[in-house]
Amino acid sequence: MRAGPIGIFDSGIGGLTVVRAIHALLPDESTVYLGDTARVPYGPKSPATVERYSLEILEWLVAQGVKAVVVACNTATAHALASLRAASPVPVIGVVEPGARAAVAATRGGVVAVIGTSGTIASGAYRRALLARRADLRIVEQACPLFVPLVEEGWFDHPAARLVAEEYLAPIRSDDVDAMVLGCTHYPLLKPLLAEVLGPGVSLIDSAEETAHDLAEVLANTGLAAAPGATPVHRWAATDDVARFGRLGAVFTGRSLDEVELVALATS
Ligand code: DGL
Repeated sequence: MRAGPIGIFDSGIGGLTVVRAIHALLPDESTVYLGDTARVPYGPKSPATVERYSLEILEWLVAQGVKAVVVACNTATAHALASLRAASPVPVIGVVEPGARAAVAATRGGVVAVIGTSGTIASGAYRRALLARRADLRIVEQACPLFVPLVEEGWFDHPAARLVAEEYLAPIRSDDVDAMVLGCTHYPLLKPLLAEVLGPGVSLIDSAEETAHDLAEVLANTGLAAAPGATPVHRWAATDDVARFGRLGAVFTGRSLDEVELVALATS
């Protein structure tokens, strides 16, 4: 079991930002990543649909022999974490709780913003996680649905991205917010632009590193960590257009991906 891979999934390529953090913190661990590129985006879909998709992916990952599962997608974490945990024979780690923890640690004035897909914001998952840690926080939430296609287009610092960011972030900029959770896999790629729009007084919270730490802790506590010095194997899989996945994946991970497998899920 210790030699098994970590399963990681997202609605598409965005979750590779989490893979990058996992590889950096846990270099001995093997990974298998599935991007549901046939059904992306999850952001505007109903909770029931995202839950069904997530459970299908869990089944596939478990069949690959994974020893733990990381839900790299914020929307899938928001809508499906509880069902995934109930259905999974291995530990399941989401991105919302680690992001909320980092935000609570970062805020000084107690005013925290959360940006994410429409589904993530509507779910209230971050709001609940933040308030559970610190009940007196004031939380400003903003759905930013146009950020995902802008990032997919590679427009990290395009004038159109800047215009959209200024519009979405105006209520946050005019408030006393001093920490903002990047509650979507794609947003870390917009970090320089968002930092410029918001100015130096706002810490931008990327949950990828915190999530990798949670994973490390779970592996250590369950005796599932890979043997030190093990040679890791990394597998990449997508439910559609593996060529595009490979191309964009290189941007997200900062490395070229080896072969990308095409996977057929029940309803993809
Ligand atoms: N992976 C999604 C998330 O983190 C963003 C892309 C999508 O809408 O599927 O919420």
